[in-house]
Amino acid sequence: MSNNLLAGKRGIIFGALNENSIAWKVAQQAVQQGAKITLTNAPIALRMGEMNKLAAECNAEIIAADVTSMDDLKNLFEKSMEILGGKIDFVLHSVGMSINVRKGIHYTESNYDNMHKGFDISAMSLHRVLQTAYKMDAISEWGSVLTLSYIAAQRVFPDYNDMADAKSLLESITRSFGYHYGKFRKVRVNSISQSPTYTTAGSGVKGFDGFYNYANKMSPLGNATADQCAEYCISMFSDYTRMVTMQNLFHDGGFSFTGVDAEIIEAMGSK
Ligand SMILES: NC(=O)c1ccc[n+]([C@@H]2O[C@H](COP(=O)([O-])OP(=O)(O)OC[C@H]3O[C@@H](n4cnc5c(N)ncnc54)[C@H](O)[C@@H]3O)[C@@H](O)[C@H]2O)c1
Repeated sequence: MSNNLLAGKRGIIFGALNENSIAWKVAQQAVQQGAKITLTNAPIALRMGEMNKLAAECNAEIIAADVTSMDDLKNLFEKSMEILGGKIDFVLHSVGMSINVRKGIHYTESNYDNMHKGFDISAMSLHRVLQTAYKMDAISEWGSVLTLSYIAAQRVFPDYNDMADAKSLLESITRSFGYHYGKFRKVRVNSISQSPTYTTAGSGVKGFDGFYNYANKMSPLGNATADQCAEYCISMFSDYTRMVTMQNLFHDGGFSFTGVDAEIIEAMGSK
């Protein structure tokens, strides 16, 4: 499906680790829709080498950047504008990591160094990216910035751990910076709250299979896939969604507004 929705646009894609990554699919689809992109990830992720395949397929350069380093981010925007030949039209921030989740530390036992690091990588990094671009005036008028969130920002999913708090902060930064960037350059900033998806970050959450299956049952349309998420991202980068900003957009097959599913009620033994 190619309609050249992003023809002539320049983008930066954060977070494509391997072919399961949501960002991987977004990069592929953005290029199919006519965009030119650069790819970025943490230096340690680049060492795994997987991204080279994507870079070759997308004819894209890879620029290393740790999202917690302001110097790396400045370099990323400078190089991207140089390589792509002008200001940036869209940015995908598809980054998340919690050491407490990774180490299986219970929420009530959270280690605060881990929590701090997790918030910086998963939430404050969006502020860092936006502040870098804002100061450099690196994003074109009507540009579009997207980040990825999860419904644990609004409701409790116990095993999502401190990532839930990180996502709340991320959504708040989306609104707050969205206001300022909207006033400054009509740049829009939104988060997409995606269904559980089998990726490295997703399956790191304890009990992910149960999580996935439950959401799939509770969503009238079923869980949204990574490819479908990428399609939504493309529409949000396109000129068809220019008046949407500061929103948290659920892309979850209806999960967020379903109270209960009839099959689940039946399974609970109702007559
Ligand atoms: N998979 C799901 O179920 C799901 C659901 C809703 C939202 N999300 C969100 O989608 C986003 C993308 O995750 P994904 O599921 O594609 O998994 P993923 O593991 O493929 O992507 C996470 C990315 O974050 C990058 N990253 C981690 N630390 C970094 C750092 N310091 N600097 C730069 N990059 C860093 C990783 O290298 C990786 O590329 C995350 O924000 C995640 O929370 C995922």
